[in-house]
Amino acid sequence: MNKIPEITIHNSLSLPVIGLGTWEMGGRQSPDKQHDSKWIDAIETAIGMGIRHIDTAAIYGGGHTETLVGEAIRNFNRNDYFITTKVSGEHLQFADVIRSVKSSKNRLKVEQIDMLLLHWPSPTVPLEQTISAITKLFDDGLIRYFGLSNFPVKTIREIGFYTDAPIITNQLEYNLFNRNQGIYTPNVESEIIPFCLKNGISITAWRPLLKGDTTTVAHPLLDSIAAKYGKTVFQIMLNWLIHKPMMMAIPRMGSADHIKQNIEALHFNMEEEDILLLDGIAK
Ligand SMILES: NC(=O)c1ccc[n+]([C@@H]2O[C@H](COP(=O)([O-])OP(=O)(O)OC[C@H]3O[C@@H](n4cnc5c(N)ncnc54)[C@H](OP(=O)(O)O)[C@@H]3O)[C@@H](O)[C@H]2O)c1
Repeated sequence: MNKIPEITIHNSLSLPVIGLGTWEMGGRQSPDKQHDSKWIDAIETAIGMGIRHIDTAAIYGGGHTETLVGEAIRNFNRNDYFITTKVSGEHLQFADVIRSVKSSKNRLKVEQIDMLLLHWPSPTVPLEQTISAITKLFDDGLIRYFGLSNFPVKTIREIGFYTDAPIITNQLEYNLFNRNQGIYTPNVESEIIPFCLKNGISITAWRPLLKGDTTTVAHPLLDSIAAKYGKTVFQIMLNWLIHKPMMMAIPRMGSADHIKQNIEALHFNMEEEDILLLDGIAK
């Protein structure tokens, strides 16, 4: 199996261009324990196939998804995985952030969370308060890196007033068909990505495959480019994404087949004219 290419962020951290999304593994906002062994197996399979970065969140499955991740990683070496989790935008007061991270750490059964993201900005809690909690988490050794999710430019700028800690990534809804109309963030491609790149902040594209729904991604141009390269439309969508600078994607992958296809999707180059055509599919 081919190695997954990596990007280097702030000259310090290298992360693979694809990681494993875990939304709806073990429930949506509350636990669903019916398929636990399937999800643990999927996460173990992914790590076994070289997927090092696992993306999860405190709210996924009401915490149960983190528990499943914790189960799956326990037979691997610590260097085999890098865990990103998120604190909910509803828990951004100082004490709530600390409590949330300690609970995540317990569910994941790790000494330290590799990267903590603020899941979305709070409309009410002052950022200064949230960032002072992040500083405490660094001081106490509970997190290694921190980043954002669904943050617009104005709020990213404000963070710089309260900390010198580098912002590693901004996780944003971004895919071939949806560039500027995210549920939480408009203007992703037109404003947020250029601002992040200028400031050394990587992008993590969430929902990179539009949920793997063949109806939503039906498009004659995408079909013809997929046929030209002998790839699936999802492999073309992923290849188009990860060839952008400082870009990572975290597709949810529940099967070895999808993992294999997505790793293969990283290892071919499209002609410039095809990339330009794909760029034109949406704005
Ligand atoms: N920060 C945020 O606010 C936010 C919001 C939403 C999601 N996220 C994160 O982003 C991750 C990805 O988003 P998502 O899960 O919503 O959607 P997604 O990754 O675009 O789509 C996941 C779906 O695509 C299927 N799939 C994966 N690889 C495929 C392939 N090669 N061909 C065909 N289908 C394929 C998966 O099926 P199988 O599972 O059966 O393989 C799954 O049903 C989430 O899991 C979560 O970690 C973050």
